Amino acid sequence: MVAKGKIVWVSGPAVRADGMSSAKMYETVEVGESKLIGEVIRLTGDVAFIQVYESTSGLRPGEPVVGTGQPLSVLLGPGIIGKIYDGIQRPLEEIAKKSGAFISKGIATTPIDLKKKYHFKPTLKLGDDVKAGTVIGTVQETPLLTHSILVPPDSKGGKVIDISSEGDFDLEQVISTIQKNGTKSPLKMYHKWPVRKPRPYTERFDPTVPLITGQRVIDTYFPIAKGGTGAIPGGFGTGKTVTLHQIAKWADSKVVVYIGCGERGNEMTEVLVEFPHLIDPRSNRPLMERTVLVANTSNMPVAAREASIYTGVTMAEYYRDMGMDVVLVADSTSRWAEALREMSGRLEEMPAEEGYPSYLASRLAEFYERAGRVRALGSPDRSGSVTIVGAVSPSGADFTEPVTTHTIRFIKTFWALDTRLAYSRHYPSINWMQSYSGYLDDVSKWWTDNISPNWYNLRAESYNILQREDTLKEIVRLLGPEALPDEEKLILEMARMIKIGILQQNSFDKIDTYCGPEKQLKLVKLMVKFYNESLKSLKENIPLSDIRSMSIIPSLLKAKFEIPDEQVSKLDDLESTMDRQFNEIRSKKEEVELIV
Ligand SMILES: Nc1ncnc2c1ncn2[C@@H]1O[C@H](COP(=O)(O)OP(=O)(O)O)[C@@H](O)[C@H]1O
Ligand SMILES: [Mg+2]
Repeated sequence: MVAKGKIVWVSGPAVRADGMSSAKMYETVEVGESKLIGEVIRLTGDVAFIQVYESTSGLRPGEPVVGTGQPLSVLLGPGIIGKIYDGIQRPLEEIAKKSGAFISKGIATTPIDLKKKYHFKPTLKLGDDVKAGTVIGTVQETPLLTHSILVPPDSKGGKVIDISSEGDFDLEQVISTIQKNGTKSPLKMYHKWPVRKPRPYTERFDPTVPLITGQRVIDTYFPIAKGGTGAIPGGFGTGKTVTLHQIAKWADSKVVVYIGCGERGNEMTEVLVEFPHLIDPRSNRPLMERTVLVANTSNMPVAAREASIYTGVTMAEYYRDMGMDVVLVADSTSRWAEALREMSGRLEEMPAEEGYPSYLASRLAEFYERAGRVRALGSPDRSGSVTIVGAVSPSGADFTEPVTTHTIRFIKTFWALDTRLAYSRHYPSINWMQSYSGYLDDVSKWWTDNISPNWYNLRAESYNILQREDTLKEIVRLLGPEALPDEEKLILEMARMIKIGILQQNSFDKIDTYCGPEKQLKLVKLMVKFYNESLKSLKENIPLSDIRSMSIIPSLLKAKFEIPDEQVSKLDDLESTMDRQFNEIRSKKEEVELIV
């Protein structure tokens, strides 16, 4: 039975309606005469608490509330890629066309164009047995993306009794019919899925393949796995957005889902203006041909912001189910948490830490748990992944606040942005002592098999230098560097070189913006070798000043800018030059000894 009630109370995006005893939790409802979209988020007796996804100004007690019987859902089919949606999958461009600059109320649009024709190529034939999730056929969604049409994951499957031959179809046309126990199910090129319900899969894999981002401090020092989770907390201006853009642009994933929860109105506008102009560096085509944006500007209702991460992750899972690697970035989850706090406040719930609701932690967990690398349902056998990276913007860069501390519990890679580093223009300002990756051991086999058997050790040796410098820093601060023995001065010098030559990476430099795994490894190897050779030389009583004046040092520091990935063998030439120069300072010393 459809719930039909009446509004008794309105407070911003929160509405209370009575007469709603037949409503269900998370059912979507039409609120008021103008049929605003809302969702039941609490039910007490016949009173429903509803969050409304559109502006409620003008809404009055007494107006009707009608249930739809459906949970908040998204439409999944070709046409998603390249779109810019609001938090409940309404296409912003179409809304703007219908209503001008400001979203007016109750505008009906479809998330994907159901009338657009796609060229369908069937992969099934009559009589085939199909299960939920099986690929029916494919369409070219964009020049960069072949979209698999799937049997909906909640289907009971059956035998194919009708399948279209190759040709152009729109989304409303039935392209196949399956039958089970006498029941026929017509299939179209899209289906619906409720956003708060994770899409099912056959099997979950361990995250053992790294997501290669081309960012050295990430891939080499604090890697994230495909299907993994990461958080990037940082104060204002520390580089969250730039880093997420770099991941979106460069990561070796097929699809990007970018969820923007803008703090100030103009910040999101930047993304809306900027993203459509970004070029996919590998294909030289617009990045939007494999991207979907979910945008929340500050003038949109908070409830839509709350929904946006579920809308985004559901679309990500859909492309995962086609067998693709998807990376989802959310900038910033703090704004999402604030929406949650505001709704909770309106509902007069008992607040927990800093006014956030007590379920903040479980909501964050639910979101990050939807990351993973899985074997998809149905046939053919295919696996895909959703990697989730969330920015966190704690006010005053205070990492002890609730959103950061709860997020840390559910993610495995932590890239801590450091205001001091950003201030001194060390970018990315990822603090190498505070950050960590829980995937290090998992991905090390991939590096060993694909790049070098020495990867793990080289990484550890170079990281050890940074750790030792960190402990020496205190002494240096008290007594100055001259108080240190030469071997420790060498550590300081080496740490400086690793910071400049490896950790710092300029997103805006044509070459440095992306650094492939092989180049990353060779740069680390050069630094470690330089350190070991220097240490050996010191032990042979070669003065540190001789080492410091070697001309290889500036070349090592500039290699990241000067040697592009395609010419990575030039780093081997650099190694030969380094060997030669060490021989020179050694023979110079021998000459001096002979003279003496
Ligand atoms: N990797 C980088 N390379 C060069 N500049 C960077 C890098 N990361 C951040 N920046 C600089 O820092 C500024 C602020 O970064 P942004 O990502 O907007 O910060 P946040 O999103 O944390 O407020 C950028 O405009 C840019 O000038
Ligand atoms: Mg930002």
